Amino acid sequence: MKKKRVAVLGSTGSIGINTLDVISRYPDRFEVVLLTAFNNVQLLMQQVRQFRPAKVALSQVHLSSLKAEFKGRIKFFDVGKDLPDLVAEPSVDIVVLAMSGAAALDPFLSAVRAGKTVAPANKEALVMAGDIILAEARKSGAKIIPVDSEQSAIFQSLEGHRREDLKCVHLTASGGALLRLPKSQHGSLTVEDVLKHPRWKMGAKITVDSATLMNKGFEVIEAQRLFSLTVDQVKVVIHPEALIHSLVEYIDGSMIAQLSVTDMRIPIQYALTYPDRLCSGLNGIDLWKLKQLNFAVPDLRKFPSLALAFEVARIGGTAPAVLNAANEVAVEEFLAGRLGFLKIYTLVEQVVLLHKSVSQPSLKDIKEADAWARETAVRLLRKGK
Ligand SMILES: NC(=O)c1ccc[n+]([C@@H]2O[C@H](COP(=O)([O-])OP(=O)(O)OC[C@H]3O[C@@H](n4cnc5c(N)ncnc54)[C@H](OP(=O)(O)O)[C@@H]3O)[C@@H](O)[C@H]2O)c1
Repeated sequence: MKKKRVAVLGSTGSIGINTLDVISRYPDRFEVVLLTAFNNVQLLMQQVRQFRPAKVALSQVHLSSLKAEFKGRIKFFDVGKDLPDLVAEPSVDIVVLAMSGAAALDPFLSAVRAGKTVAPANKEALVMAGDIILAEARKSGAKIIPVDSEQSAIFQSLEGHRREDLKCVHLTASGGALLRLPKSQHGSLTVEDVLKHPRWKMGAKITVDSATLMNKGFEVIEAQRLFSLTVDQVKVVIHPEALIHSLVEYIDGSMIAQLSVTDMRIPIQYALTYPDRLCSGLNGIDLWKLKQLNFAVPDLRKFPSLALAFEVARIGGTAPAVLNAANEVAVEEFLAGRLGFLKIYTLVEQVVLLHKSVSQPSLKDIKEADAWARETAVRLLRKGK
C-alpha cells in the first residue's frame, strides 16, 4: 500500500499531538513529511527525532537553534511565511490543519487550491472564509474531511444518505466549564477556573471559547459553510456527556447520530483513513454503564456569545471574520490576565456592532475586515483603560 504523505500544521498542540499518536499506530500507512509549530521548540525537536519529516517550519526566531541541532538533514522554514508554499508541494497528500487561529487561512486555501485532501480541526479559517475555501475546493477537486468532532459527526451521519433528504443538523455542546455555574459568578472567574474543561483536554484558546460558548457559535458558521446549510438548518443542543458528537435530522423524522468516547483521536483517524475505518485502540461506549444521556436548551442569556454568533451567521459577508478576529484579541487579553471573563463578550459585541459587513466578500475584503477588527478591538481596550 502506498503511504499517505501527511503534513501536520500545529503538531505541538493538542490536536497535533493526537494526530501524531494516530499516525504512530499505522507507520505502514502514513509518512510524516512536514511538521510545523510556533514556539514550542522542545516538543517539536522530539517530534522531529521520532517522525523524521523532510521539512519543518517554526517561528523565525527559533530557526537557528533547530538548524544547528539537525545539521542539514532536515530543511527548515519560517512558519509565518512559508506554509502556503509547503502545503502545496507535490510531496504532500494530506494536510492536517491542527494550528489555531486565523493564521491557518492562507495554508488552508493554498492546500485546497493545490487539490490536496485537507483535514481541518481549525475552525477559525472556515468561519472567516468558508465560502471561498469551499468554492476553491469545488474547482480543484480537493477533499475537505473535518476533524472537529461535531463536523466529523455530521460528515459521518451524511454518508450514504441523499443530501436533498436532509432537514437540519443538531450540534451538541457539552456546555464547557461553566454550564452549572450561575451567571452571577462569571464576573470573578480566573483563567485557571475557565481552563478546567469537564470533558475535553484542549488548547487554551478553544477551552475559553468553549466556556463562553463562542466555540459553538463558530461551529454553527463552520457547519453552515462545510455542508451548505442555512442558519435555520443548524440547531444547538446542550449535551453534557459529550458522547453524541452531533446529529443529522432527515425529512422523514429520522435522526442519524455519531457517538463515541470523548477522544479526538477518533475523528482525527477517520479523517486520515477515510473512507476506511481502522482499529483505534479505543473502545465503544459502555451503554449498560452509561444508562442515560441528557439534553437541554442552551441558555442564550447566560451565554450571549452563542446568540451573537447566530446573529453574525445571519448577517454573513465579512461579519464572521470580524467576530473571529475580535474574539481572538479578547481571548488573548483574558488569557494574559488583562481582561475580565465577562469583558470578552462585551468587547467582541462592541466590535461587531461597529462593523459594516461587506456581502459576498473577496479574500481581500475578509483580510481587511480581520485587520480592522483587531485594530478596533485594541483601540477599544486602550480606551477602556
Ligand atoms: N483541541 C481540541 O480538542 C480541538 C477540537 C476541535 C477543534 N479544535 C481546533 O483545532 C485548532 C487547534 O486547537 P488545539 O486545541 O490543538 O490548540 P493548541 O493546543 O493551542 O495548539 C495550537 C497549535 O498551533 C500552533 N500555532 C499557534 N499559533 C500559531 C501561528 N500563528 N502560526 C502557526 N502555528 C501556530 C501552536 O504552536 P506552539 O505549540 O509552538 O505554540 C500549536 O502547535 C483550533 O483551531 C481549535 O479550535 C481543537
